[in-house]
Amino acid sequence: MNSVSISLEGHAYEVLVGAGASASAGDLTAGRDRVAVLADQRVVALHGPLLKAAPTLEVLAGESLKTLEGLGRVLEFCATSGLSRGSVLAAYGGGTVGDLGGLAAALYKRGIAVLQVPTTLLAQVDASVGGKTAINLASGKNLAGSFHHPAAVLCDTRLLETLDDAELRSGLGEVIKTAIIGGEEALELVERRLDRLCQRDPAALAEVVEVCVRVKARIVAADPEERGSRRVLNLGHTFAHAIELAAGFGRVPHGVAVAVGLSLAARAAERSSGAPAALTARTLRALDRAGLPSSLADLREAYSLQGELSPQALLHGLRHDKKGVVGAPEFVLARREGDVIMGVHLDENLLTDLLG
Ligand code: GLY
Repeated sequence: MNSVSISLEGHAYEVLVGAGASASAGDLTAGRDRVAVLADQRVVALHGPLLKAAPTLEVLAGESLKTLEGLGRVLEFCATSGLSRGSVLAAYGGGTVGDLGGLAAALYKRGIAVLQVPTTLLAQVDASVGGKTAINLASGKNLAGSFHHPAAVLCDTRLLETLDDAELRSGLGEVIKTAIIGGEEALELVERRLDRLCQRDPAALAEVVEVCVRVKARIVAADPEERGSRRVLNLGHTFAHAIELAAGFGRVPHGVAVAVGLSLAARAAERSSGAPAALTARTLRALDRAGLPSSLADLREAYSLQGELSPQALLHGLRHDKKGVVGAPEFVLARREGDVIMGVHLDENLLTDLLG
């Protein structure tokens, strides 16, 4: 088992990575007066009771969970479980369960501890680390949330062996993103392990999740509340959010939208910011090998979204990206492996060309 430290001012926490990491949950929560569990019901069905004797609220994971109503349910569950300020809420599931559990823990009694036990590849390499929590509003995704850093994160790579193919591939989108941001060494490792990752090789999963967590830990420690440099983690995400919005939330898995976002960001960086064609080729090849779409044309075909993902609909989505000023979307682009620039504005003609 390996451990990665996230050092923040006034709060440091460990991310344990490896097969069997979730078995540490008992020890890690032993000092708390009470523990309650929020869990994806599929995880309970596959792996049995998660923390013996802890009250458990089972939920159906997915974006539809992240509502004000869903949040209210979890807060009531904390209250009926008798949680105090000295208690801990453990969240077992993918990104949506972690987001909801994290926000409920941030709010209940003005903040209690949360233990994140991510069970998808996407949540292990990205969503569970770094303290972002949120629910969706009718007006958009992740519009109500807070930063609430966990007491610890347990990335049990054994739990990834039962992931369905679509979930695994979606996670590989965030893995490839993190590797490009991390730099040559991280990207080369992911390229070398990609076939074994697709086969769910346990050693490859543990090695790559750890590398991604280390990259993320470094970035989060430098800017825990995304006031500046943490925004590099949004590589490919301006395009990805426009795709998700135009397709209708939930139609395209987040990591798949990120994959296409990475391909568009690579082409945009080559044409606007002097990125070498070799980096675009490398990005597209990694996406192809991971079984992910590497162009808008591939995505439209794979998800039958010709009408929804028209250039006009995507441009509309880009203009409403919450990270930019309305009407002037900002992009995060990689100029080289490990050299990522933020706040880039792209020429309208280039955008129209890319989205065609
Ligand atoms: N998922 C990007 C971040 O945590 O900042």
